[in-house]
Amino acid sequence: MKYPHLFEPFQIGGIPLKNRLVMSPMTMNYATPEGFATEKLAYYYMERAKGGVGLIIVEGTFFTLEGRGYKNQLGLASPEHSEKLKSLTDAVHTLNNGVKIFIQIHHAGGRASSKVTGLQPVAPSALPAYPGAEVPRALTKEEIREIVEAHIRASVWAKEAGFDGVDVHCAHGYLVPSFFSPLTNQRTDEYGGDLSGRTRFLTEIVRGIKERLGAEFPLTVKISGDEFIAGGLGLEEITRIARRIQEAGIDGLMVSAGSVGAKKVGDLKQPHKILYGSDQEKSTGYPDLSHRSAAAVSENSGDGNDSHSHRLGCPIGKEEA
Ligand SMILES: Cc1cc2nc3c(=O)[nH]c(=O)nc-3n(C[C@H](O)[C@H](O)[C@H](O)COP(=O)(O)O)c2cc1C
Repeated sequence: MKYPHLFEPFQIGGIPLKNRLVMSPMTMNYATPEGFATEKLAYYYMERAKGGVGLIIVEGTFFTLEGRGYKNQLGLASPEHSEKLKSLTDAVHTLNNGVKIFIQIHHAGGRASSKVTGLQPVAPSALPAYPGAEVPRALTKEEIREIVEAHIRASVWAKEAGFDGVDVHCAHGYLVPSFFSPLTNQRTDEYGGDLSGRTRFLTEIVRGIKERLGAEFPLTVKISGDEFIAGGLGLEEITRIARRIQEAGIDGLMVSAGSVGAKKVGDLKQPHKILYGSDQEKSTGYPDLSHRSAAAVSENSGDGNDSHSHRLGCPIGKEEA
């Protein structure tokens, strides 16, 4: 068997997983127009839970009005959203088959659209996320701190809704990764400049969530291992970011690839789709990093060290490393 440990138990933060199969977050847009969870959505996740994965990460969920990415996107922007989500986690947990369920919190940043939110998108700098995108408004320092707090508040609501952990969406060119990249972050204050400044937003989010929810409550981050844009971030810088957030306290790193505007590698609007088909791999000449980038970041970020032995870099990647 290629992955002999795949069906062995694992632990992430304080939570045991029955195996190492993780369902990646995928936006379904099955919520009400207000972002409330529906029976259809609960049914969808129950069916996935019956499939036998150890962990489900529920799709990217908006938690501020300006950060909403899609109509009918799931929301976690109020106690009422949290209450409605409780029926989803209850439905999955009552299966009693050991499956754990996290939720991904998502701020679309410069990839949001005023057509959906009625508000001008926001970003670290007033630079469009990709050619032709709406020009966003640069966030003030006070607003940045409010969005840090909004991540923390949403995580608290997630825990109250019965989720076993939280994932922060930091891939594919949305708000958090737009702070990492010098292409979209040209701030001159402490949230810009060198890599340390450009990672500050996320380290504040990670520390804030850990402080509020405690060390045992699992917190993962989804990141793009390479932006695949000329002048954008590559694996070396992303590895340094991964180390910083590991030190800040994350329990796992989910490594994807690409950012919006990754012209060389295909579809601009759906960067996560660019590297995974062998035809695309052949046509672009880029390697398929779906496992290798994960392994490299996991290895380079010190995962496997005793003090981090319950952290999930990428179990499949680890086996290949
Ligand atoms: C329909 C669809 C919706 C998706 N929605 C999300 C999402 O809400 N959050 C996210 O992080 N990734 C999302 N993705 C990306 C996937 O989780 C995943 O990253 C991608 O399919 C590539 O797999 P890999 O990153 O595990 O290699 C979506 C993908 C698809 C096909």
